[in-house]
Amino acid sequence: MKAIRVHETGGPEKLLYEDVPLPSPAPGQALVKIHSIGLNFIDVYFRTGLYKSTLPFTPGMEAAGTVESIGEGVAVVNPGDRVAYAGAIGAYAGYSLVNASQLVALPDEVDFASAAAVMLQGITAHYLTHSTFPLRKGETLLLHAAAGGVGLLLIQVAKRIGAKVIGTVSTEEKAALARDAGADHIIFYARDDFEQEVKRITAGTGVDVVYDSVGRTTFEKSLNCLKRRGMLVLFGQSSGSVPPIDPGILNAKGSLYLTRPGLAHYTATREELLWRAGDILKWVSEKSLKLHIDKTYPLKDAARAHQALEERKTAGKVLLQP
Ligand SMILES: NC(=O)c1ccc[n+]([C@@H]2O[C@H](COP(=O)([O-])OP(=O)(O)OC[C@H]3O[C@@H](n4cnc5c(N)ncnc54)[C@H](OP(=O)(O)O)[C@@H]3O)[C@@H](O)[C@H]2O)c1
Repeated sequence: MKAIRVHETGGPEKLLYEDVPLPSPAPGQALVKIHSIGLNFIDVYFRTGLYKSTLPFTPGMEAAGTVESIGEGVAVVNPGDRVAYAGAIGAYAGYSLVNASQLVALPDEVDFASAAAVMLQGITAHYLTHSTFPLRKGETLLLHAAAGGVGLLLIQVAKRIGAKVIGTVSTEEKAALARDAGADHIIFYARDDFEQEVKRITAGTGVDVVYDSVGRTTFEKSLNCLKRRGMLVLFGQSSGSVPPIDPGILNAKGSLYLTRPGLAHYTATREELLWRAGDILKWVSEKSLKLHIDKTYPLKDAARAHQALEERKTAGKVLLQP
């Protein structure tokens, strides 16, 4: 089968399109024939070496396809089932091995591209708004990269709950997409001081929660945007890692909370995975959660897709086609 392989970490040119042997499932695993692959910023962290994997490896954490075969002891899926998953490495390939407990059955109404577009970022939007900081009607949030993959989904999930959304974006095109998804206020954070804008919009009060996946360039001002006892949810670092901080800052700025959550810890049990994926896939089936697929690249062009994502040229979801 064809797969993207990383033999050494570095730039997008390290993503090599190669022939590799078709694997067979070990006990507890399923072999999935991949129809559509979701691109995520975490794929960049693995490629650059910020997140570690044993070399060589096949990147990619999200895909949708059909179960080709199953290993011993697998009871939750059968060959031929339409499935999707998020959080198992090796999706940039024609087939991938996945622990069967990580697979979710797809409703008939959800096609493979939609499933690969929503599993990882949709479940992320779900756990951030339902569990990390359980949003309530009337609360106000600040969301960076509001027109990104997670961003456009998180806006919609927050609006279902009845929260007020302030989103930051870099361009007019991205602003239009974020507004269309339901954002109440847009800030152009590459041009304007977002801390001042948030204070203006909230009449000096600040927001209940900041969802910050940009990291290094936004972190400090994000803390300044919070209400007393508000929460900063740092869930990524697309601009680079945040340097170490003195916990005393959280006291000085108003007894703030800081958390750095990860998807794996919010989908650790099958029950939790099926709850979140079930909600997300139901909303997609009902068309109450809209997907914005920016572009689909052939798998062999994964390097071009990474480059576009890192250069902030994408909005919503990018897919790879094996
Ligand atoms: N912790 C978790 O469980 C979890 C799960 C999923 C994703 N994430 C994190 O969430 C973030 C978003 O992921 P995604 O896949 O949906 O990506 P994305 O938001 O579609 O793309 C990243 C966006 O970040 C913004 N950005 C700001 N500064 C940037 C910089 N220096 N370089 C690149 N981008 C920059 C850009 O939007 P503008 O052009 O509007 O600035 C860019 O489009 C990532 O940090 C990812 O690691 C975390």
